[in-house]
Amino acid sequence: MCGIVAYIGPREAYPIILKGLKRLEYRGYDSSGVALLNHGLHVYKKKGKVADLEESLVGKNLHAHAGIGHTRWATHGEPSDRNAHPHQSANGKLAMIHNGIIENYAQLKNELQKKGYVFKSDTDTEVLLNFIEDIQKNNYCGLEEAVRIALRRVVGAYVIVLLDQDNPDTIIAARKGSPLVIGVGKGEHFLASDASPIIEYTKEAVYVNDYELAILRPDELILKNLGNEKLTPFIQKLDLELAAIEKEGYDHFMLKEIFEQPDTIFDCLRGRLDVGNATITMAGVQNNIEHLKNANRIIMVACGTSWHAGLIAEYIFEELCRIPVEVEYASEFRYRNPVIHKGDVIIAISQSGETADTIVAIEKAKEQGAFIFGVVNVVGSSISRIADAGAYTHAGPEIGVASTKAFTAQLVVLALIALKIAKEKNAINDDRYVHLLNELHNVPEKAKAILPMNEHIKKLAEKYKHAKDALYLGRGYNFPVALEGALKLKEISYIHAEGYAAAEMKHGPIALVDEALPVVFVATKDSCHEKIVSNIQEIKARKGKVIAVVSEGDDVIPKMSDDIITVPEADELVAPMLSVIPLQLFAYHIGVAKGLDVDKPRNLAKSVTVE
Ligand code: G6P
Repeated sequence: MCGIVAYIGPREAYPIILKGLKRLEYRGYDSSGVALLNHGLHVYKKKGKVADLEESLVGKNLHAHAGIGHTRWATHGEPSDRNAHPHQSANGKLAMIHNGIIENYAQLKNELQKKGYVFKSDTDTEVLLNFIEDIQKNNYCGLEEAVRIALRRVVGAYVIVLLDQDNPDTIIAARKGSPLVIGVGKGEHFLASDASPIIEYTKEAVYVNDYELAILRPDELILKNLGNEKLTPFIQKLDLELAAIEKEGYDHFMLKEIFEQPDTIFDCLRGRLDVGNATITMAGVQNNIEHLKNANRIIMVACGTSWHAGLIAEYIFEELCRIPVEVEYASEFRYRNPVIHKGDVIIAISQSGETADTIVAIEKAKEQGAFIFGVVNVVGSSISRIADAGAYTHAGPEIGVASTKAFTAQLVVLALIALKIAKEKNAINDDRYVHLLNELHNVPEKAKAILPMNEHIKKLAEKYKHAKDALYLGRGYNFPVALEGALKLKEISYIHAEGYAAAEMKHGPIALVDEALPVVFVATKDSCHEKIVSNIQEIKARKGKVIAVVSEGDDVIPKMSDDIITVPEADELVAPMLSVIPLQLFAYHIGVAKGLDVDKPRNLAKSVTVE
């Protein structure tokens, strides 16, 4: 979490940094700040969003050709002006921004306090910065050497970026466990947590790896390892368009991304699914087919919405491939000493490719001999580089903090992978295979047909916006969709919502049902349809308010529901790709109706790079 931006070169640094921080705000938005070098170091920080910082700086002389900026998601210390980054070292000469957590900060702080250091903030960042300053003082060494020595003692994850008042033509940065991209321009360099602040100025980028140190000057980029050996920077072309990271007329990124789904699903299928020839082309699967089809077991590892995609994939893979599947929260998996054998395949699902727990989980599994397959959205991200093979979801940049289009793209990619393995294994008969290829092919059109429901869903949101709690129920493939619907509502509208397997509701949640409780049923036509009809009756018998997502042509459930949302009929295996869309819209409109900032819900961040 936290977004970082830096610039050094002939342009004015502040406007570049400010714009970059706004693009990175999805990573954290409780406070922000900049440090600029102009005849000395000038540090400005403000609690709140980047716009609050911008407003506080109106009229100030912000002229500088080198600067660093940060937008924070608090870990150590509450959101406040003094805990905002950049931090300044005790002698005032160094400024530093940090993304990550320094786990042994308490010990370092203790050592520094004994030496007389006094801290102005509660952050681990200020501790590391003064630790660096102290090393510089004691070893009479330059900043680069001091950073190197300091990082050898640091336990935790970081990207740090430093400005030094005494060396105004140099920025120093280092990475372990958090993302860092350098933009290489003509006589200038940019630095950021992802490529979005950079692409406007250059398409040439270097992704910094763990344990690497970058020394940036306007016309020089030096990359070293922590052993002070020079490395050759690998310059890549950025494949990202500016339009993809702008709102393009929508009120919010979340709404834009929900509406993009017919296109992103299409993009995800493009070049892969050939219905005419009944083939699926996926190099990452094809080149590793022996590993995949002979897997003893598949373990889906993910967090948040991506974990829900894993749950749906469990149903898909077990049905089509007949391979046992487990679905694990990465944060639990990494700490519970799981039994892993050589023939196990781990599928790591992640939009950002930077989620700290997922990264460590797959690193551990890899050490124990598992084959790691990544299903990742952000090209070049850490998970995509650690994995043995993978398939990108090609949903484009997702900026709204609550995941929407990345989720449906994950479902599509996972279904394609399962179908390809099933075919190679002869685990699926030709009719079912061809039928499912056609069903997948039709998803973009069917997703498009759901979008005109937007106005109707907006009205429902008005009706239910005052609810204190909500229950989301589904069975079979739609059970994880219920979990995802509940998560969306919680994230965006701050209404307490629980997702449950519809039948399991009788073992607890039914006690909550009264006339004030909205119960959202994900009840599209599938093999559990009759069962879910009974569950709806059980809720109605207790006066609960039923909002049902049903398939077109269903003439049973609408008669017993208070409100319905209709989606096109589809095979139950692809139905979640459609039934989740109205739930995304429902959460979005309730959030908007309550006047909340749906793109930046409180306390959340898009990319959770701390464990
Ligand atoms: C955060 C985001 C979620 C996301 C989860 C996992 O909580 O707010 O939208 O689902 O992280 O992130 P990943 O990038 O690994 O999919």
